[in-house]
Amino acid sequence: MSNITAKYVEEYIRGLIPLKEDFLFEIQEYAYKNNVPIVHPEVAQLLKVLTMMKKPKRVLEIGTAIGYSALTMASCMDHDSRIITIERQEDMVKIAKSNIKNKGYENKIEVLKGEAETVLKELDEKFDLIFLDAAKGKYKEFFSYFIDNLNDGGIIVSDNVLFKGMVATDELVIRRKKTIVKRMRDYLKYISNHEFLETCVIPIGDGVAITYKKEVK
Ligand SMILES: C[S@@+](CC[C@H](N)C(=O)[O-])C[C@H]1O[C@@H](n2cnc3c(N)ncnc32)[C@H](O)[C@@H]1O
Repeated sequence: MSNITAKYVEEYIRGLIPLKEDFLFEIQEYAYKNNVPIVHPEVAQLLKVLTMMKKPKRVLEIGTAIGYSALTMASCMDHDSRIITIERQEDMVKIAKSNIKNKGYENKIEVLKGEAETVLKELDEKFDLIFLDAAKGKYKEFFSYFIDNLNDGGIIVSDNVLFKGMVATDELVIRRKKTIVKRMRDYLKYISNHEFLETCVIPIGDGVAITYKKEVK
């Protein structure tokens, strides 16, 4: 139970996704068996649809894990498009690279090993879509590093923004998560009220925020 959506709604939505046909099925299974956190199936589906609609040439992902969401997006992108994904854990980077190679996407997805805080400061490329899925307490900090690298008309997808429901109500907040919750609330307030951004929060998975960077005329 995610505390975000009623279980029967979540199960129904998941039931609509043709998982068995998913070419990433075994990577998803590996993640579940080994407790590797990956996007919820309905969030993977959202990423697919957004990628198909936006047709990004350049995608930045923060938080690779074993490459599941990067491969999900890559499978919906044009042949001349590219993903840069950042991961700090050596073991994850290794598995992600191997999964990406096995699926034939090594020319499309580049995994950068390091702390996102450091790697982001060195990136001088522009992106059309940025997927934020690491270190929930640092989203606003990451945002400050990457926002100038997002093209006008670009999209930010931020995962886990409702964080097991805790972000929406104090009643669910457990003491050791107080700082993360406060920071996430600050981030959501910031991206919801920013002059050049338009944001909506969708209560699927662990909560997803979709943010559009307005074109400045
Ligand atoms: C939720 S997982 C990413 C899942 C992946 N996006 C997917 O759905 O397939 C978050 C990952 O971010 C990494 N991470 C956490 N903080 C980070 C940081 N500051 N810099 C780089 N990676 C970080 C973790 O090691 C973890 O593998």
